Amino acid sequence: LENGLARTPPMGWLSWERFRCNTDCENDPDNCISENLFRTMTDLVVSEGYAAAGYEYINVDDCWLEKNRGPNNELVADRRRFPSGMRALADYVHAKGLKFGIYEDYGNYTCAGYPGILGYSKQDARQFASWDVDYVKLDGCYSLPTDMDIGYPEFGRHLNGTGRAMVYSCSWPVYQIYAGISPNFSSIIEHCNLWRNFDDIQDSWASLESIIDYYGNNQDYIIPNAGPGHWNDPDMLIIGNFGLSYEQSKTQMALWAILAAPLLMSVDLRSIRPEYKAILQNKKIIAVDQDPLGIQGRRIYKHKGIEIWSRPITPIYQTYYSYAVAFVNRRTDGTPSDVAVTLRELGLQSPTGYRVEDLYEDVDYGILSPSTKIKVKVNPSGVVILRADVQPERFSKRPFNPYYY
Ligand code: DGJ
Repeated sequence: LENGLARTPPMGWLSWERFRCNTDCENDPDNCISENLFRTMTDLVVSEGYAAAGYEYINVDDCWLEKNRGPNNELVADRRRFPSGMRALADYVHAKGLKFGIYEDYGNYTCAGYPGILGYSKQDARQFASWDVDYVKLDGCYSLPTDMDIGYPEFGRHLNGTGRAMVYSCSWPVYQIYAGISPNFSSIIEHCNLWRNFDDIQDSWASLESIIDYYGNNQDYIIPNAGPGHWNDPDMLIIGNFGLSYEQSKTQMALWAILAAPLLMSVDLRSIRPEYKAILQNKKIIAVDQDPLGIQGRRIYKHKGIEIWSRPITPIYQTYYSYAVAFVNRRTDGTPSDVAVTLRELGLQSPTGYRVEDLYEDVDYGILSPSTKIKVKVNPSGVVILRADVQPERFSKRPFNPYYY
């Protein structure tokens, strides 16, 4: 969607995977979906350095609404859990220098059974704009996937009609794929800033693996749809929760960067361990994710549990891209695997060579020619991610001309 937003994949915090639909503020006041939770996470995104690393949106997911609309059919935030209302929460987030996202559903109800926008889409878009919302995720429960080709663009037009620029996150393709409909991606690209293609992420390595496989197995179909303003969304980062080991967490971060994925953390920032925080704040990997070319990477090798994923990034010299390359070990034999490959075999062919560095470990390989063989040791369910920056021609053929400079 060309609305000037999401020129690189959106980054932020989203409540769903970690906090779900916990509405029990009486017994679990610190973890229920409430304005307190979002304020607390807003504070931590700033004070713990996430904002400085690029995380920007504080996004509410399902279960923020009252069960019924108000007297004028307006959406009403749950009065007990959001006593100050959504405008006040948006103001709070903005005052901290961040942006505010909200959740709704294209159908009659949200997935958790709260009122959806069907029949009220213009009114609801205006209401979001009046609350100074910056980002809307529109889910697809309780609706007909056949209607989405009309309904999602229509709501997008209503958002646009408010005059307030809002990132538009769509669940349109995933519900159509589930219904056996092949999505019209040219329309989805035109009307949405990001969209979900596949299952919800759950807090487990198995869930993460299923997503990795989906994006790898369907890459020829998926990759061409990504670019500045329009991104595939493989779902939230679950780093720092309960289901992923340290190695597996590094794998998610590295592959999300290769996939040019939105980086939406869903984790309790009050209790995250420092090593997971460091993964989420790895500036070199975030730079890959946020690369301005916006080219989604692909799986270029898969054999006996070893996968290599690669993404073209800036800088470009002549016709040669730079690359981020991730080596993933999916073997279950419990021992680190050695992978040795020449840059040329990875598709890195520039005769000027590449400066290669490891993005997790402090290892600089120096400037390597395409024929150099690099060797990496990849831990079980872990990753090694490298960045190879193509070198400008080192010895210019052009005679020195002082006026040129
Ligand atoms: C389904 C979506 O895919 C999830 O991300 C989450 O928003 C839930 N619905 C909320 O009910």
